[in-house]
Amino acid sequence: MAQPPRQMNLGLFVRPCGHHIASWRYPTTHADAGSNLERYIEMAKTAERGCLDMLFSADTNSAWTAEGEGMNRQHYVAWIEPFTMLSVLSAHTKNIGLVCTASTSFDQPFSIARRFASLDLVSGGRGGWNVVTSGNETEALNFSQLAHLPKVERYKRAKEFVQVVKALWDSWDADAFTRDRESGVFFEWNKMHALDHKGTHFQVRGPLNVPRSPQGQPVIVQAGASEDGKELAAETAEVIFAASNQLANSQAFYNDVKGRLAKYGRSHDDLKILPGLSVTVAPTRQEAQDKHDELQALIHPQVGLGLLSRRIGFDLTNHPVDEQLPELPPNATIGTRSDMMIDLARREKLTLRQLYEHFAAARGHHSLMGTPADVADGMQEWFEAKGCDGFNILCPTFPDGLNDFVNLAVPELQRRGLFRKKYEGKTLRETLGLKVPRSRYETRSQAAE
Ligand SMILES: Cc1cc2nc3c(=O)[nH]c(=O)nc-3n(C[C@H](O)[C@H](O)[C@H](O)COP(=O)(O)O)c2cc1C
Repeated sequence: MAQPPRQMNLGLFVRPCGHHIASWRYPTTHADAGSNLERYIEMAKTAERGCLDMLFSADTNSAWTAEGEGMNRQHYVAWIEPFTMLSVLSAHTKNIGLVCTASTSFDQPFSIARRFASLDLVSGGRGGWNVVTSGNETEALNFSQLAHLPKVERYKRAKEFVQVVKALWDSWDADAFTRDRESGVFFEWNKMHALDHKGTHFQVRGPLNVPRSPQGQPVIVQAGASEDGKELAAETAEVIFAASNQLANSQAFYNDVKGRLAKYGRSHDDLKILPGLSVTVAPTRQEAQDKHDELQALIHPQVGLGLLSRRIGFDLTNHPVDEQLPELPPNATIGTRSDMMIDLARREKLTLRQLYEHFAAARGHHSLMGTPADVADGMQEWFEAKGCDGFNILCPTFPDGLNDFVNLAVPELQRRGLFRKKYEGKTLRETLGLKVPRSRYETRSQAAE
């Protein structure tokens, strides 16, 4: 039988006013969107109208910007904690996946396993966990630590953390809870599995006090692109949120990570790679360009320098904006994304202003701007050249940018057969085309029956 044509997976990278750093000053955005439930609901419903696979919510355990970096001019400093938000959004949507970020560096596996298993249950199997090790130095200071763990240590902890969480999600077989009123037996003993994990970083007895969800386990998403990051992803991730602004780099990353799957007994389709993509789409190229120019004109230099300082991990706020990047000490904390920015600045001899303008909308992710056909061409090229399995979409503004994407770009992708016209499945796994994971106890409990 002929295989159905391969279609893209598309996430919406949630950011209340939009991803452009000056978006909150744009006339049609809502400056209070980060604390306004109605705006998030509107965003989720629009994304679902466009049949997108998932809402993807990044997060940090700190105000993200440090004081003195033009902090009081930035919109992304305080927002509603994404887990709480996605739980609410689950009641306002039916199909779209709900993925948010939780750090393996500051939390405990039991709490994370419990929280995501619950999100998965309340949403009918639409939950996902974006596993991050955290690249922001200021977070450690909120967790009684003087400094962040070195990156190698963070990844060692992350590996064990994810193993424990996944094992806890197998605590109960899907049919464990018989709830038989007549016999008075609520669940079957042999379908409950305590973990008794004793590792280097964690000791966890289990079982988890949340039943198994309709999709077996929440989907594991991962963001992090160093050697350790790629290895962790190959072992455990089902979706990678990647950052790349060139097709050749994206292809290399795609082949590299997919090539590592076999050694963990996994196949090519067990992992979807979705690079971030900033889209400015309008009926004409000129209108798209005008929108972009209007936003760029709203960037205050302090905000631009703040963005660079945060992303590079070095205070550039007092450097002249029309000079090039100064010599920098090596940075062990931030990782692959700061390297990418520094490389670009050096290669193209950009001034700090040019550098922050370059990153203002997409922060190093790939960008497309133009008509629906231009945008669809660009997306199709990366998708067909095996640079990705789809994209995590960054809209420069909300709600306009998302409306434009859903009203203009999505129909063009659908017309080309590159994207679904309706949701076929109920769970996030079904929507993404991922397998339901077998419980590690399945054979044992079946044999015991
Ligand atoms: C595309 C992308 C998205 C990320 N999103 C987050 C995030 O939402 N919150 C966070 O704390 N860290 C985030 N990170 C940081 C990673 O968890 C990791 O700490 C950092 O990338 C350093 O690891 P690496 O060198 O392996 O990339 C992200 C990284 C990438 C590449």
